[in-house]
Amino acid sequence: MNEITQAVTILQQGGLVAFPTETVYGLGADAKNPEAVRKVFTAKGRPFDHPLIVHLANVDQLGEWARDITLMAKQLAQAFWPGPLTLILKKQPHVLDAVTAGQDTVGIRIPSHPLALALLSEFGSGVVAPSANQFTRVSPTEVSAVQEEMGERAAMILDGGVCAVGLESTIVNVSGALPVILRPGMITKEMIEEVLGREVQVATREVSEVRAPGQHHLHYAPRTKTILLSASELTAYVASVASQERIALMLQSDLNIPAHDHVHVVKMPEEPAAYAQSLYHTLRCLDREELAMIVIEAVPNDPAWEAIRDRLSKASAGA
Ligand code: TXA
Ligand code: MG
Repeated sequence: MNEITQAVTILQQGGLVAFPTETVYGLGADAKNPEAVRKVFTAKGRPFDHPLIVHLANVDQLGEWARDITLMAKQLAQAFWPGPLTLILKKQPHVLDAVTAGQDTVGIRIPSHPLALALLSEFGSGVVAPSANQFTRVSPTEVSAVQEEMGERAAMILDGGVCAVGLESTIVNVSGALPVILRPGMITKEMIEEVLGREVQVATREVSEVRAPGQHHLHYAPRTKTILLSASELTAYVASVASQERIALMLQSDLNIPAHDHVHVVKMPEEPAAYAQSLYHTLRCLDREELAMIVIEAVPNDPAWEAIRDRLSKASAGA
């Protein structure tokens, strides 16, 4: 039996399969099986009021899960699927409350990773898949991270290498009259506006009518205390840190920090796509080093960096 067939069998029997997507690894279960869906929440330690995304192989399956599919939904699906975009749509009546957290909407995504697509098309139905990490922790972007987060809780882990995008999908609510971005991702507001030919709002607590619990504090957070500083604050800060405290510095610019033995400098990529791809991997590696602190240099203030700024501010929200 090849590994996809084996994974499909596990899903059909109500088991959990972790699999790669182009964004992050997901923890998959049969979206129509309430027992299997419950296992996902338990394995992650995730509160039951946080809805899950249903993953599909093909846009032809969309009508089985969602209704009232708006023109803007079709335009975004056409432009970005398969890919790192999740659409929130009105749900079909059969979609489990456990999946939607009792809401009238469902999140749908068609991922582009070939292993994800192979799994989803052989399974032939919807697969719920939150990121394969413990609740509030950094999402896994490679198999070793899935093992670290899930241990034996997934019956099988499919290895698809390092995720190309590295940050979770952009979530757009297209269930109402106006499109609203609920979670920024590497498909930017500007890219979405270009396809729709209109302005798109980004949810703040006030604008958002639906819950997007991915947005709350301490999501995507390393265990190590993590702070975010501008380039101008960094040099002075590093000089002020006592030499017995080992810290890591994640630099985005070519800022020249004088060498200190207790400071581990990590030079991050200067381009947003490469930075996004390596962000969670870097945080995870640094988190294993028992450091007193992770200090991250703030990234540029332009649209291509929006999703990265969002994750960095969440990673440092606990400090
Ligand atoms: O890139 C991704 O989206 C990854 C990969 C595995 O596909 N999945 C992922 O799932 O990030 P998760 O469960 O970690 O995050 C899903 C987010 C949550 O913030 C959840 O609140 C939101 O999607 N969501 C799901 N259904 C929703 C709905 N009906 N209305 C509003 N937000 C919803
Ligand atoms: Mg997640």
